[in-house]
Amino acid sequence: MLHDTFAAGLDALRAERAALIEHHGRRITSEVTVSQAARGMRGVAALICDTSVVDPDRGLVIRGVPVLDLIDKLPEDVFHLLLTGALPSAAQRAALQHDLAARAAVPDAVWKVLRAMPKDAHPMAMLSAGLLALEDQSAFRRRYSEGLAREDYWRPALDDALALIAELPALAAGLYRIRYGKGKPLVYDPELDWAANFCRMLGVEDERFYRAMRIAVILQSDHEGGNVCAFACHTVGSVLSNPYLAVSAGFNGLSGPLHGLASQESILWVNGAIERYGGIPNVPHVEEYTWDTLNAGRIVPGYGHAVLRGQDPRFTGMVEYGLRYFGADEVFGTVVRMSEVVPKVLKAHGKAKNPYPNVDAVMGAVWHHFGITELPYYTVPFAVSLSLGLLAQLVINRALGSPIVRPRSVTSEWIREQAERD
Ligand SMILES: CC(C)(COP(=O)(O)OP(=O)(O)OC[C@H]1O[C@@H](n2cnc3c(N)ncnc32)[C@H](O)[C@@H]1OP(=O)(O)O)[C@@H](O)C(=O)NCCC(=O)NCCS
Repeated sequence: MLHDTFAAGLDALRAERAALIEHHGRRITSEVTVSQAARGMRGVAALICDTSVVDPDRGLVIRGVPVLDLIDKLPEDVFHLLLTGALPSAAQRAALQHDLAARAAVPDAVWKVLRAMPKDAHPMAMLSAGLLALEDQSAFRRRYSEGLAREDYWRPALDDALALIAELPALAAGLYRIRYGKGKPLVYDPELDWAANFCRMLGVEDERFYRAMRIAVILQSDHEGGNVCAFACHTVGSVLSNPYLAVSAGFNGLSGPLHGLASQESILWVNGAIERYGGIPNVPHVEEYTWDTLNAGRIVPGYGHAVLRGQDPRFTGMVEYGLRYFGADEVFGTVVRMSEVVPKVLKAHGKAKNPYPNVDAVMGAVWHHFGITELPYYTVPFAVSLSLGLLAQLVINRALGSPIVRPRSVTSEWIREQAERD
């Protein structure tokens, strides 16, 4: 059914992109200074992505809807919204859930690969390896090798997207059970929604966890096209590497401490404060602890952002849920206390352009509260969440026939020569 819905909007999608290029093709989105080229292209608008926008002040807006207005939906609904621009009807949602349940089985060969990995393999490496072990299922790879017309690329890309979204909670939960000796991987229950399945397959059956997981997934489901994870996935997908390869590349990008790994690092940092002060630290303690971190030349994990300049609604949305259901939790309470104090310290420090907590400052406290206490695992649920946006973007790009991503680089010598000529 999702194929039909997407196909129904395809002509309009393609016509819109053609008109954009025809009428506005020479419009300038950004200039690029030498400083920007040398400093991670920060602020360079060189991609088109319609699934979501990160407004520096308002934060994440998905298809025109501020993310906090979506948290009562299901992740399945949000994937439909990301991909097609509209929330699903009840029938469309039921069909999507049915489709996901039918595709959710992870073959034994994948568990064998994960069991063969070193005992201290990082869970994100296991997730990426698991995806690569699933790659032989790629409909895109098979159909492309049979001879696929460019205008039809999106169809097997959407098949793969649905399979990946269905398999990811099972894979992510199964690797948790293997890595931390929690027993055999569990299988998907078609009677439960996708996020509840993720929790149940982790081994936690708790309605409050199901609700927290739905919210967490929606809050982290997309973050426009230029973050490292989305950009890596887009770049790899642009050479028609199949969705398994492209998403694995994106996840590898998410695995760095300046990106999704901050989720693990921030709770490590929070736990350090709890240990040092014997419980939830008071305000002077947080100030001291934060200054000690900064004076040691380290970054404060879970704070700052490359685009956002105001509060991150993903942080505030998750905190609101936590305050309602587990405000007395020590780790969560410390996260909240720190969020009230650290921004003042970062402002006084004077470097970070955004002194506020980002989504990674709080998510670990949620997992911790529900008994997932193994910190290196914390980036995995972020990856599972972000797969919704990565795959919606990828299918849209295949539908638009987006060409390969291939910017140029210049040499330092070239820059000096240009400067001498002026
Ligand atoms: C997210 C992040 C990578 C953005 O980087 P950025 O766009 O370069 O950020 P800024 O422009 O504000 O950086 C300006 C300076 O402030 C520093 N800064 C930014 N955030 C900081 C933080 N949380 N702690 C300490 N210093 C920080 C930067 O390292 C940089 O220092 P430099 O000039 O000596 O190189 C950065 O804020 C960070 O490292 N945060 C902690 C990790 C994290 O939470 N990542 C998840 C993001 S969703």
